[in-house]
Amino acid sequence: MIETGRIVIVGAGMGALYAALELAPHPVVMISPEELGHGASSAWAQGGVAAAMAGNDSPEAHADDTENAGAGTVDAEVAAMVTRVARAHIVELTDLGTPFDRSKDGGYVLSREAAHSVPRVVRVKGDQAGKQIMETLIEAVRATPSVQVIEGTQAVRLEVEDGTVTGVWITDANAPATPVLIRCPAVLLAGGGSGGLYAQTTNPARIRGQVIGFAARAGAQIADPEFVQFHPTAIATGEDPAPLATEALRGEGAVLVNAEGERFMQALHKDAELAPRDIVARAIFAETQAGRAPALDTRDAIGAELPERFPAVTEACARGGIDPLRQVIPVAAAAHYHMGGVATAQNGRASLDHLWVCGEASSTGLHGANRLASNGLLEALVFARNAAADISAETELTDAQPLQLLLDTGTPSDADTVQALRDTMTKHVGVRRNAAGLRAALREIARLEALSAQDESFLNMCATATLITAAALRREESRGGHWRDDFPEADPKLAVRTQITLPEALTIRARACEDQT
Ligand code: SIN
Repeated sequence: MIETGRIVIVGAGMGALYAALELAPHPVVMISPEELGHGASSAWAQGGVAAAMAGNDSPEAHADDTENAGAGTVDAEVAAMVTRVARAHIVELTDLGTPFDRSKDGGYVLSREAAHSVPRVVRVKGDQAGKQIMETLIEAVRATPSVQVIEGTQAVRLEVEDGTVTGVWITDANAPATPVLIRCPAVLLAGGGSGGLYAQTTNPARIRGQVIGFAARAGAQIADPEFVQFHPTAIATGEDPAPLATEALRGEGAVLVNAEGERFMQALHKDAELAPRDIVARAIFAETQAGRAPALDTRDAIGAELPERFPAVTEACARGGIDPLRQVIPVAAAAHYHMGGVATAQNGRASLDHLWVCGEASSTGLHGANRLASNGLLEALVFARNAAADISAETELTDAQPLQLLLDTGTPSDADTVQALRDTMTKHVGVRRNAAGLRAALREIARLEALSAQDESFLNMCATATLITAAALRREESRGGHWRDDFPEADPKLAVRTQITLPEALTIRARACEDQT
């Protein structure tokens, strides 16, 4: 056991880095599974950060779009708060050195993405926003003496005494062995979402719901876990994880076509390719299921400018043997963002004392049942700052020394068992769900969990998989990213956020297991 006065930040994505800077001069230690800048979803974000920066825009219009996309369960107060402060965060990132695309008059170049009423997404070189903001923040963190980063480590458990978090158990990220307890005054969870729990995902391989899972195992309240967002245009060239073809391409006029070269979105929604993301994802899924090979055609709208304007997309196509200047880009729906997570108040607090959360591991009420594009990075920034302010007010300033840590190495999670879990989630808890499939998934999760009961990282994945599936079974309607074939309508009585604990989800799972026997 190690005792420290440092605040422990679990994770190393945008929220984690921003919070570490905001907390200075409070000493912090960041638990980073990879070398900084690698393996965090934020670095892969192509779109950018949504903020009302233009003269024809306002925080109120941004909040309205957020609520409309969220399908009836966005917390209006949270949406108003986040959209009001969005501009200040863009200015802060600019001051730190983020090279946002600027127009000749000094304004920000803004992209249009689905369900935004105006172009509103601040970007860097077309599709480089996540990478460039991360590089800016990493440079700032490396120059901040109060921040210690321990790379190659992961958190697997929280230490809780009488409802108060008193520490975190950590282990080697690649070859976990017996974990070591770090006792600390405060823990901020900023370790990403759950997309990698699915076999088809745009998230880095490391991001498999572990953080939500161990918070739930420690007794934290979980909100909205059934709401998983599937991105309609993951590039379908067989890579795992699947690279993204950013929605900004459709904002620039790229169109979706099937194997016959027909556009299919015009018949489905007045905004066609720029309909809310859940609607486009279900349309893509239907085309895939019907064997009609959906694809994105950028040739007329963007043409030869693609490599210069969207370098990440161009590189991903090249890796998959596609020449987007001459060919359409094959696409599929893939798990992209988890609207659910650890229930988090506006000051970043979770339901357990001394525990704060920001970014995709949290569920703040901003996204409702379907996140508005490019609101994810914004939420991470806003809640990182809010949580840091609250932690600073609550925690004594110390001169804690850097931690000296020597971790044993053990064995990684069994790859076949993890893959079986991911396959189950994609097959039964994906774009379209029904009661029989969800019950089958719960039984399979229970079986896999029993096979690997010694592997804490896998237990954390299974906890989150159970929460998503149980809440999806309990919500007998279709709303946003949650579609039930057996309940295809939204039920106005169910236009409320889900609150659930792991014991409640396990009760639903136990019932599904009994039903079969
Ligand atoms: C995209 O660029 O299409 C993704 C943006 C986001 O998920 O917010």
